Amino acid sequence: MSGVLEGRCALVCVTGCIAAYKACELVRELQRRGARVKVLMSEHATHFIDPTTFRALTHEPVALGLFDDPSDPIHHISLAKEADVIVVAPATANVIAKMACGIADDLLSTTLLAATSPIIVAPAMNSNMWRAAATQENMQRLRERGVLVAGPGRGYLACGDVDEGRLIEIETIADTVEQALCESSALTGERVLITAGPTHEPIDPVRFIGNRSSGKMGVALARAARDMGAQVTLVLGPADATAPWGVDVVPVETAAEMHSAALSAFEDATMAICAAAVADYTPAQPSDHKLKKGVETLDRLELVPTADILHDLSAVKGERLVVGFAAETGDPVAYAQAKLARKGCDAIVANDVTRSDSGFGTDTNKAWWITTDGAEELPVLSKDELAREILRRLK
Ligand code: PMT
Repeated sequence: MSGVLEGRCALVCVTGCIAAYKACELVRELQRRGARVKVLMSEHATHFIDPTTFRALTHEPVALGLFDDPSDPIHHISLAKEADVIVVAPATANVIAKMACGIADDLLSTTLLAATSPIIVAPAMNSNMWRAAATQENMQRLRERGVLVAGPGRGYLACGDVDEGRLIEIETIADTVEQALCESSALTGERVLITAGPTHEPIDPVRFIGNRSSGKMGVALARAARDMGAQVTLVLGPADATAPWGVDVVPVETAAEMHSAALSAFEDATMAICAAAVADYTPAQPSDHKLKKGVETLDRLELVPTADILHDLSAVKGERLVVGFAAETGDPVAYAQAKLARKGCDAIVANDVTRSDSGFGTDTNKAWWITTDGAEELPVLSKDELAREILRRLK
């Protein structure tokens, strides 16, 4: 990644926290890596460090108030447009909450709301404030919108506790800034097809055969691919997860509908990832009226196999990459390796669906990346992080 910051404009947003002085080191590190750095401070940050310090370090005016620069009547827009990347360090619970809710009541928050460039947040606060449900929910919302998070670290805090909440090391923040810049265009020009969620196979107009997929994994993939610059088509079964903005969504209900939507979208796609939990069987003859309890017997439900979407995409893929998932309850690696050969795709993400932190409906996943070269075990990751890990392997 070395050199990625060369000649790029990095906007460092400093908020009111004792770690504000460490932002000086961050400015220096980003400059050392080739960036032109501008600094924007919240009013509270100026209580911890004087803007003159940043002015001397950057040789640039320090942005402070919404109405401070008479030469630039819409300062927040010009700052947002000028920045190739924005890093909020240290980020307080307050600015994280504002970002999550879209509050725009000062120069810093309006600039962040107006920004279209990648944003990195490096939280620093008391450990209880960090672990508070509100902060964690706000962080989750930011991650879901593609904000990269660096830290926090563990160690001595200003309140005297030794716990989680410290600003993470400056090198880690700078590495994350470089990673954000690299990834924001890593899939530019790619058209990614993703299948997600369950399918519902009708028994009659009110009953169906379904499964526990929430759609979270596929939606996380769609979000991550969008954030990496791809054009995304998400073929989405009846899932709980909400489809992300900025992707083309094709809602479907049954395995047959998902099959036809996926094959049609694949005609224009450059790669495909099948994260959906597709029913393997469907009722042979769904009733066109509601089966009445006690009046009609249902001693036998005849099922017929559905078409295999992953297999059929792999059959026509040519040079294009196709990745499948495998929901495993036994030996994930061995079963997924067999699936890889059977389906004819390029890779399988095997996930262990027996664990409470992995598989259906969870926010995290324990997975293995499996190709003909072997199996790579990944740590337990949030579904957003796993999505990025998968896409990094496809660029
Ligand atoms: O949606 P979440 O709650 O976030 O849960 C995520 C998940 C557990 C559903 C996801 O991570 C996952 O494992 N998806 C695949 C589930 C599955 O059906 O696995 P499988 O081993 O039965 O199928 C293997 C592959 O074939 C999958 O890529 C599947 O999409 C595909 N397939 C299966 C049957 C079929 N008829 N067509 C298919 O394309």
